[in-house]
Amino acid sequence: MNPPEGTGPGNRDPLSRIRAALDGPLDRDEKLRLAVTILSGSAKHFTWTGIYLLEGETLILHNQVGSPTPHERIQVGRGICGLAARERRTVVVADVGSDPRYLACSLSTRSEIVVPILRDGVVLGEIDVDSDRLDAFGEADRALLESVAGLVARLL
Ligand code: SME
Repeated sequence: MNPPEGTGPGNRDPLSRIRAALDGPLDRDEKLRLAVTILSGSAKHFTWTGIYLLEGETLILHNQVGSPTPHERIQVGRGICGLAARERRTVVVADVGSDPRYLACSLSTRSEIVVPILRDGVVLGEIDVDSDRLDAFGEADRALLESVAGLVARLL
Protein backbone atom coordinates (compact mmCIF):
# COMPACT_ATOMS: atom_id res chain seq x y z
CA MET A 1 0.00 0.00 0.00
CA ASN A 2 1.24 3.49 -0.76
CA PRO A 3 1.57 5.90 2.15
CA PRO A 4 -1.30 8.37 2.42
CA GLU A 5 -0.83 11.60 0.53
CA GLY A 6 1.07 14.22 2.48
CA THR A 7 3.19 11.76 4.46
CA GLY A 8 6.87 12.33 3.90
CA PRO A 9 9.64 9.74 3.68
CA GLY A 10 10.06 10.02 7.46
CA ASN A 11 6.73 8.28 7.98
CA ARG A 12 7.35 5.32 5.70
CA ASP A 13 8.54 1.94 6.85
CA PRO A 14 12.30 1.56 7.30
CA LEU A 15 12.75 -0.77 4.33
CA SER A 16 11.06 1.69 1.95
CA ARG A 17 13.07 4.56 3.37
CA ILE A 18 16.33 2.69 2.98
CA ARG A 19 15.41 1.61 -0.56
CA ALA A 20 14.70 5.25 -1.45
CA ALA A 21 17.96 6.39 0.15
CA LEU A 22 20.02 3.78 -1.68
CA ASP A 23 18.39 4.66 -5.01
CA GLY A 24 19.17 8.36 -4.48
CA PRO A 25 22.12 10.54 -5.43
CA LEU A 26 24.33 10.03 -2.38
CA ASP A 27 27.73 8.36 -2.67
CA ARG A 28 28.29 4.82 -1.41
CA ASP A 29 29.64 5.77 2.01
CA GLU A 30 26.83 8.24 2.64
CA LYS A 31 24.31 5.57 1.65
CA LEU A 32 25.84 3.09 4.07
CA ARG A 33 25.69 5.67 6.85
CA LEU A 34 22.08 6.58 6.06
CA ALA A 35 21.02 2.91 5.99
CA VAL A 36 22.48 2.47 9.50
CA THR A 37 20.86 5.69 10.74
CA ILE A 38 17.42 4.69 9.44
CA LEU A 39 17.73 1.16 10.83
CA SER A 40 18.91 2.44 14.18
CA GLY A 41 15.90 4.73 14.49
CA SER A 42 13.44 2.09 13.37
CA ALA A 43 13.17 0.09 16.61
CA LYS A 44 13.64 1.00 20.28
CA HIS A 45 15.41 -2.29 20.97
CA PHE A 46 18.19 -1.54 18.42
CA THR A 47 20.70 -0.16 20.93
CA TRP A 48 23.78 -0.41 18.69
CA THR A 49 23.56 -0.71 14.90
CA GLY A 50 26.49 -0.95 12.52
CA ILE A 51 27.76 -2.17 9.16
CA TYR A 52 31.05 -4.01 8.77
CA LEU A 53 32.67 -4.53 5.36
CA LEU A 54 34.83 -7.55 4.63
CA GLU A 55 38.37 -6.88 3.43
CA GLY A 56 40.26 -10.09 2.91
CA GLU A 57 39.64 -12.10 6.07
CA THR A 58 38.87 -9.06 8.24
CA LEU A 59 35.56 -7.40 8.98
CA ILE A 60 36.12 -3.64 9.24
CA LEU A 61 33.55 -1.36 10.88
CA HIS A 62 32.27 1.10 8.28
CA ASN A 63 29.88 3.08 10.51
CA GLN A 64 27.68 2.68 13.54
CA VAL A 65 25.04 4.38 15.65
CA GLY A 66 25.84 3.62 19.29
CA SER A 67 28.82 3.65 21.60
CA PRO A 68 32.33 3.24 20.19
CA THR A 69 33.36 -0.41 20.11
CA PRO A 70 36.79 -1.92 20.77
CA HIS A 71 36.00 -4.36 17.93
CA GLU A 72 36.37 -2.20 14.83
CA ARG A 73 38.27 -5.02 13.11
CA ILE A 74 37.19 -8.64 13.55
CA GLN A 75 38.79 -11.66 11.93
CA VAL A 76 36.46 -14.09 10.13
CA GLY A 77 35.76 -16.88 12.61
CA ARG A 78 36.06 -14.67 15.73
CA GLY A 79 33.06 -13.57 17.78
CA ILE A 80 29.47 -13.63 16.62
CA CYS A 81 30.36 -11.38 13.68
CA GLY A 82 33.11 -13.70 12.53
CA LEU A 83 30.82 -16.70 12.92
CA ALA A 84 28.11 -15.17 10.71
CA ALA A 85 30.74 -14.37 8.06
CA ARG A 86 32.33 -17.81 8.16
CA GLU A 87 28.98 -19.62 8.01
CA ARG A 88 27.34 -17.09 5.65
CA ARG A 89 24.14 -17.06 7.68
CA THR A 90 22.27 -14.87 10.12
CA VAL A 91 23.24 -15.52 13.73
CA VAL A 92 20.93 -14.53 16.58
CA VAL A 93 22.20 -14.71 20.16
CA ALA A 94 19.32 -14.37 22.61
CA ASP A 95 21.62 -14.07 25.66
CA VAL A 96 25.15 -12.90 24.93
CA GLY A 97 26.12 -13.61 28.55
CA SER A 98 25.76 -17.32 27.95
CA ASP A 99 27.59 -17.46 24.61
CA PRO A 100 31.36 -17.83 25.01
CA ARG A 101 31.91 -16.77 21.39
CA TYR A 102 30.54 -13.28 22.05
CA LEU A 103 32.99 -10.36 21.90
CA ALA A 104 31.75 -7.64 24.25
CA CYS A 105 31.17 -4.21 22.76
CA SER A 106 29.25 -2.75 25.69
CA LEU A 107 28.54 -4.14 29.14
CA SER A 108 24.85 -3.31 28.74
CA THR A 109 24.37 -5.51 25.65
CA ARG A 110 22.14 -8.54 26.32
CA SER A 111 21.35 -9.90 22.82
CA GLU A 112 22.67 -9.58 19.28
CA ILE A 113 21.78 -10.31 15.64
CA VAL A 114 24.35 -10.41 12.84
CA VAL A 115 23.20 -10.62 9.22
CA PRO A 116 25.70 -11.24 6.44
CA ILE A 117 25.62 -9.03 3.35
CA LEU A 118 25.85 -11.58 0.55
CA ARG A 119 26.09 -11.38 -3.22
CA ASP A 120 25.98 -14.64 -5.14
CA GLY A 121 26.77 -16.46 -1.90
CA VAL A 122 29.90 -14.36 -1.27
CA VAL A 123 30.14 -12.38 1.99
CA LEU A 124 30.75 -8.66 1.38
CA GLY A 125 30.01 -7.43 4.89
CA GLU A 126 27.52 -7.60 7.72
CA ILE A 127 24.83 -5.72 9.54
CA ASP A 128 25.28 -6.05 13.31
CA VAL A 129 22.62 -4.99 15.82
CA ASP A 130 22.96 -5.21 19.61
CA SER A 131 20.18 -4.77 22.13
CA ASP A 132 20.17 -3.96 25.82
CA ARG A 133 17.13 -6.27 26.04
CA LEU A 134 17.45 -9.98 26.55
CA ASP A 135 16.16 -12.03 23.58
CA ALA A 136 15.20 -8.86 21.74
CA PHE A 137 15.32 -10.07 18.14
CA GLY A 138 12.45 -11.88 16.44
CA GLU A 139 11.48 -12.95 12.95
CA ALA A 140 10.40 -9.46 11.92
CA ASP A 141 13.86 -8.09 12.78
CA ARG A 142 15.57 -10.90 10.90
CA ALA A 143 13.35 -10.31 7.84
CA LEU A 144 13.97 -6.55 7.87
CA LEU A 145 17.73 -6.86 8.31
CA GLU A 146 18.06 -9.57 5.66
CA SER A 147 16.09 -7.41 3.21
CA VAL A 148 18.30 -4.42 3.96
CA ALA A 149 21.41 -6.60 3.55
CA GLY A 150 20.12 -7.57 0.10
CA LEU A 151 19.75 -3.91 -0.86
CA VAL A 152 23.15 -2.95 0.54
CA ALA A 153 24.83 -5.83 -1.34
CA ARG A 154 24.00 -4.07 -4.61
CA LEU A 155 26.13 -1.08 -3.55
CA LEU A 156 29.24 -3.07 -2.78
N1 SME B 1 29.60 -8.61 19.57
C1 SME B 1 30.31 -8.74 18.34
C2 SME B 1 31.43 -7.75 18.23
C3 SME B 1 31.03 -6.46 17.67
S1 SME B 1 30.30 -5.40 18.79
O1 SME B 1 29.03 -6.01 19.21
C4 SME B 1 29.94 -3.99 18.08
C5 SME B 1 30.84 -10.16 18.17
O2 SME B 1 30.73 -10.96 19.08
O3 SME B 1 31.38 -10.48 17.11
